[in-house]
Amino acid sequence: MSRVAFLLALAIAAALAGWTWYRQPHPAATADPNIVPARAEVAVAAAEVAYVFAPATPDGIGKFFHGREIAQVMGHPAIDWLERGEREQEEAPSKAIAAIDLKPTDVIADIGAGSGYYSFRISSKVPFGKVVAIDIQQEMLDFLKKRSGELKVTNVEPHLGTIDNLKLPADSLDAALMVDAYHEFSHPQEMLASLRHALKPGGRIFLLEFRGEDPKVPIKALHKMTEAQARLEFEGAGFRFVSNLRPLPWQHFMIFQK
Ligand SMILES: C[S@@+](CC[C@H](N)C(=O)[O-])C[C@H]1O[C@@H](n2cnc3c(N)ncnc32)[C@H](O)[C@@H]1O
Repeated sequence: MSRVAFLLALAIAAALAGWTWYRQPHPAATADPNIVPARAEVAVAAAEVAYVFAPATPDGIGKFFHGREIAQVMGHPAIDWLERGEREQEEAPSKAIAAIDLKPTDVIADIGAGSGYYSFRISSKVPFGKVVAIDIQQEMLDFLKKRSGELKVTNVEPHLGTIDNLKLPADSLDAALMVDAYHEFSHPQEMLASLRHALKPGGRIFLLEFRGEDPKVPIKALHKMTEAQARLEFEGAGFRFVSNLRPLPWQHFMIFQK
């Protein structure tokens, strides 16, 4: 195989890796072992929080919260999938962004920011505030940093969180955004507590998740959520359900409030 053909095959394989991660039918598990919690660590958490453990299904980690099996984390090699050109046509993120109402001075966290697809697109809404782009994968933050330079955006701040803590000061956020990310948090109970701590009173959460009620949404089951399930988890953590705006073809657009 020539060098050019080899590089082309490599690029196609990388693009497909992102595509098959979320799409039906389920591929074999390919989670990054560095970001899926080790069994020992999970066992410690189990003693303190409301988790149930069972054998993992192909896309899950075998850890259940309010009856929902937590999905495996999408690894950074899938950045190309997050940044894919068809995303606008499939998910209409521009409609979601239009519906995220912010004040120019607001500080909003994009939790599970990945490549920053949403972070950069909402940054112009907060010219005197900032977007704290949080992820647990350093590679995602490196990508974000590089992209900030290319776009000359100065108000997107990459921030390394941990699997169970945002590492943010109390009352430091006006709002939080989570797009296709919450369902793969390995420690949702701790993350929700950490978010309550970081949000100002009245602070809002914009929660976008692929609709679990809709079999036509071509995404793997564990990477979707129903509205009822999201309410169970967020209301259980003390947040108030405000609305589900439904402007999007594939996702819920839910708003909760502290
Ligand atoms: C499927 S990607 C979505 C990225 C982005 N929100 C988007 O829609 O383009 C989910 C991201 O959540 C991150 N993640 C998983 N657990 C996390 C946690 N506890 N705290 C912060 N980020 C987390 C993963 O590393 C991954 O980058």
